[in-house]
Amino acid sequence: MKQTASTFTGLTDMTVPNDIAKLVAQLSLEEKASLLSGKNFWETMDIPRLGISSLFLADGPHGIRKQQAAADHLGLNVSVPATCFPTAATIANSWDVKLVEQMGKYLGVEARSLGVNVLLGPGINIKRNPLCGRNFEYYSEDPYLTGKLAAALVRGIQSEGVAACVKHYAVNNQETNRMAINAIVDERALREIYLTAFEMVVKEGAVQTLMTAYNRINGVYANEHSYLLRQILREEWGFTGLVVTDWGGSNDRIDGLLASSDLEMPGTNGESDRELVAAVQSGRVAESYLDESVSRLLYLAKNTSRIPENNHEISFDVRAHHEVARHIAEESIVLLKNQGNLLPLQKGQRVAIIGDFARSPRYQGAGSSNVNPTQISTLLGAAQQAGIQLVGFEPGYERYGKRNQSLQKRAINLAKKADVVLLCIGLDEASEAEGLDRPHMRLPDNQIELLGALQSVNPALVVILSCGCAVEMPWIGTVPAVLHAYLSGQAGAEAIVNIITGKVNPSGKLAETYPLRYEEVPSATLFPGKEATAEYRESLFVGYRYFDRFPEKVLFPFGYGLSYTSFSYRDLQISEEGVSFVIQNTGRWDGKEIAQLYVRKKASSLFRPEKELKGFIKVFIKAGEEQRVFIPFDEYTFRVFDVLNKTWSVEEGEYEILVGASSRDIRLRGNWYKKGHMVLSPCDPASLISYYTGDPARVSREEFQYLMEAPLPSDRWDRTRSLSYNDTVAQCQYAKSCFARLVFHIIDFLPPFFRKIGMRNQANLIMMSFYYMPFRGITKMMGGMVNRAMAEGLLVIANGHFFKGIKHIVKEYIKLRKAGYAKYRT
Ligand code: BGC
Repeated sequence: MKQTASTFTGLTDMTVPNDIAKLVAQLSLEEKASLLSGKNFWETMDIPRLGISSLFLADGPHGIRKQQAAADHLGLNVSVPATCFPTAATIANSWDVKLVEQMGKYLGVEARSLGVNVLLGPGINIKRNPLCGRNFEYYSEDPYLTGKLAAALVRGIQSEGVAACVKHYAVNNQETNRMAINAIVDERALREIYLTAFEMVVKEGAVQTLMTAYNRINGVYANEHSYLLRQILREEWGFTGLVVTDWGGSNDRIDGLLASSDLEMPGTNGESDRELVAAVQSGRVAESYLDESVSRLLYLAKNTSRIPENNHEISFDVRAHHEVARHIAEESIVLLKNQGNLLPLQKGQRVAIIGDFARSPRYQGAGSSNVNPTQISTLLGAAQQAGIQLVGFEPGYERYGKRNQSLQKRAINLAKKADVVLLCIGLDEASEAEGLDRPHMRLPDNQIELLGALQSVNPALVVILSCGCAVEMPWIGTVPAVLHAYLSGQAGAEAIVNIITGKVNPSGKLAETYPLRYEEVPSATLFPGKEATAEYRESLFVGYRYFDRFPEKVLFPFGYGLSYTSFSYRDLQISEEGVSFVIQNTGRWDGKEIAQLYVRKKASSLFRPEKELKGFIKVFIKAGEEQRVFIPFDEYTFRVFDVLNKTWSVEEGEYEILVGASSRDIRLRGNWYKKGHMVLSPCDPASLISYYTGDPARVSREEFQYLMEAPLPSDRWDRTRSLSYNDTVAQCQYAKSCFARLVFHIIDFLPPFFRKIGMRNQANLIMMSFYYMPFRGITKMMGGMVNRAMAEGLLVIANGHFFKGIKHIVKEYIKLRKAGYAKYRT
């Protein structure tokens, strides 16, 4: 898809500051091109003759991953120590905008002190399906909650002079085949579910940079998507910042530039510069496009000019930051069950701690967000420090799932001696990783067996769960108490202990729905898209938007969480500005309540979810006291995307205003008439029955096609054609060359083999790094050692011409060596 758009909607000629315009005017075409891709894996180019220095970009969303030596985008090589805060999935449960902003500030302080100009986070993709491997890095199934919290994190980070980078724009909701998958999504789901949080982060967070996703959306790579980048991001939302590719996520550099993607990362050692220069010289692209992108880059450099260069030394208060991480975890951990008030522990109770996670915590996920923590607390250590009367500790199970009877026996014996058993279970680190989706929603069998055995000898069992996502809990009926710590960062264990001892009253509430079984998830049968496409047939019906139609399928609803106290709600008042009501703490503990505002359109010509979150507030109320709180309406409260007119609109009519303690615990209701417009459906409702009144999990291909108003592309790879630049190693299974097929079969054989012999990390690595790697990725991720022409040689081999391909590669290699890479880069 070639684009000719010429409107420059970021820094316009009018708004480019003089000093930047002057700098740009002094740059040669080659220098401009060189500024638009990395100097190396993490830095942008510098041009000393003009005093232009490199910018340092580093992950990530919950702690700084600044690599000093070997660089990678999967968190494999070590990075400088930094505070590992709780991951996004965890902090989302705090529903606390101020707290998240504070965390952003601390991230900003650390990033600045480590010489990082751009922090690659927050990641705000919507949790479409609980098995997405990166859900631990994302906030919620709900765009409003995601947007509010992520905008706060961005404000915090940027208040320290560091630029945040919101990612991955957009519709990046699975890890399987993430660099090539084509997400097929209808316009309303795109706007109302998948883009809204980005819009909020742009408008309310004033984020300075944005990372495009690897995948395609309705056929076009995110990084080249003019509609998403130029039209929506820049023109509609007014984003004036820098757009950067995900690492290796540039497909066609020129189409990317035309769509207003500014910076390609990591560097390709001049390969991309040559493409840009050639495109200008041939007239395919006007030099003004480069000027625009370079201006945005220089503007960013100016905005982050307080950052010291290349600082690898820690110069922040490590202890104080650890305390902040603990406090954030305390606000985010969710008490799911507490029958008979088993928690908090009573003074003098004899406690057994069981579970490997108690001595070696699960506190973050794997991949590019992996932080090298400054210190790590363990539950065992924290419990001892807190003076819990321990009768002992047993690991109870093998961390990576192997059955071990003797570990189990020892744990059972210990449990018999205790008044209360704390059982620490969850998912191991290889189960939640970037680049991979989870194969199922269960906990390891050996942990469940242990749970059953312990429960039969000591029913006073408190399950402490550590994982960054929703899991099935078929065993929940057999245990009295469950505390979900999520991935609570380096100080998480201290936070857990403070909650179980009652020093802190739990106040987190779930930012995602827990279905009873994975099969109940609306996208279950279509997730992940495995070959060419991922069809988002459920449209708007993600999370509670779906489960509200089928409440019987839910274990824990969106917005749910317990406290040691209880709250009552009364006296709802509605005005043009918002809603106010009284919350009373009716229990014996001081505590915090998260009240949620949902809105429902009573009669509509469009299909709509039962209700949608439009506001929330977290308040501290002392035992026995009450407080009147106010939740404002805003531009998101009543809007709906009008597909026919391609605009946001308010449908006139009667709305129900719902205030609740969770999405299924609505305490107050009122009606509100909203003036607006008539919004019509572009499609005949009679042909969209599943969406209007049926089951959006059972949408047929025909019905979805009708919603999409266009023929659907095949969801399978086209096995008849030759392999091309954007095809993946996985597609070599049907390559013409038997050599390529052999390579594929080796790569295909290794992960299950490694898993069988217990080397799960190695298995994951192959899946992450090779299996779904497109040929273009080889050129983009090897620092310019392999260029496009050489990758084409590989394709010639894969397509059945072995010797011709080898000859081509050797010829291109010699050419590349002779050209001496890019001279102006040295
Ligand atoms: C991830 C990004 C990350 C980048 C750099 C990519 O693989 O998708 O989220 O920021 O690597 O590490």
